[in-house]
Amino acid sequence: MSDLKKIRDEFLSKLRSKLDLSQVNQLKTELFGKDGLITKQFKKIGSISVSERKKYATELNKIKDELQNLIISKIGEIEISEVNEKLKKEKIDVSLPERSIIRGKIHPVSQTIDEISSIFSEIGFSVEEGPDVENEFNNFTALNTPDHHPARDMHDTFYLDEKKQKLLRTHTSPVQIRTMINNKPPFKIIAPGRTYRSDSDQTHAPMFHQVEGLHIDKEINMGHLKGCLNYFIKEFFEVDKIKMRFRPSHFPFTEPSAEVDIGYKIKDGKIVIGEGDQWLEILGCGMVHPNVLKNVRVDPAKYQGYAFGIGIDRLAMLKYGINDLRAFFDCDYRWLNHFGFDPLDVPTNYRGLSR
Ligand code: DAH
Repeated sequence: MSDLKKIRDEFLSKLRSKLDLSQVNQLKTELFGKDGLITKQFKKIGSISVSERKKYATELNKIKDELQNLIISKIGEIEISEVNEKLKKEKIDVSLPERSIIRGKIHPVSQTIDEISSIFSEIGFSVEEGPDVENEFNNFTALNTPDHHPARDMHDTFYLDEKKQKLLRTHTSPVQIRTMINNKPPFKIIAPGRTYRSDSDQTHAPMFHQVEGLHIDKEINMGHLKGCLNYFIKEFFEVDKIKMRFRPSHFPFTEPSAEVDIGYKIKDGKIVIGEGDQWLEILGCGMVHPNVLKNVRVDPAKYQGYAFGIGIDRLAMLKYGINDLRAFFDCDYRWLNHFGFDPLDVPTNYRGLSR
């Protein structure tokens, strides 16, 4: 019997026996691998006499095809039988109870930040961010709050090093500095985010949220500030008219400075914004101090504008009737389930901005 026939008969019988995938692959390598039996036969062709060569090559190709086809169909068979085995084992019991789905809730602070961002973005403000760990220059010095200024103590700062150069930002105002240093005027930004002060009671938490606003251009005045805040408060509380008053105040980074109160009354145990004769402070603001502009190399002879800082947690508490600030950060799942927002059923003035 010729070598070719021997190989063929031997491997046909091997391939017809019961094999697993690795065994078939092993046979495949023995035949067609680099030193495989069939591969070697092909290498031999050149040394066969011309008269024999054609016959030999024809037979070799036939055997090669036959064995190759058998290997392919064998692999197919094994794969199918593996799938069938699996299907036999994996029966679906349709009578089992369904697995319960726990859908997460959006935290009221995240929800409020989304609402604030979408309201301001409609009047041309873009949203900026800054880091929670700040340096003292951005947090104080550049904001016209030099060393030993009482505001540094007033803020109950968490310092992170002995030299008092790194700290947890005490307000979002340093984002004003970062934005103005890194860009060219005009500026029209808001910057929501976390802020920190060493303080804790029913209305203060050591970590809380603010949103900073900054609008600097060539002809910006306090009228623009008033118009902007008036628009924002109406949109946020979804009321047609509000009562708003500017109370003179002091911040090192604005001159003049003011605190803004909104008028409200309590009706049936609930706060009604825009009516009544009680006042609630909600933000600080003013015209950016020329020293701040100088510190970030913006010419105060050409550019001016306003800034404001709003306590986000307080707005959320007011709008959604939550009366203890500390609950915001207790991570109590039952609380979140009650006060949180269904991601698929968001309130009406949510305009689709993502966090
Ligand atoms: N940074 C101030 C604070 O945390 C709030 C503030 C007041 C921000 C006036 C401003 C501003 O931008 O103009 O108390």
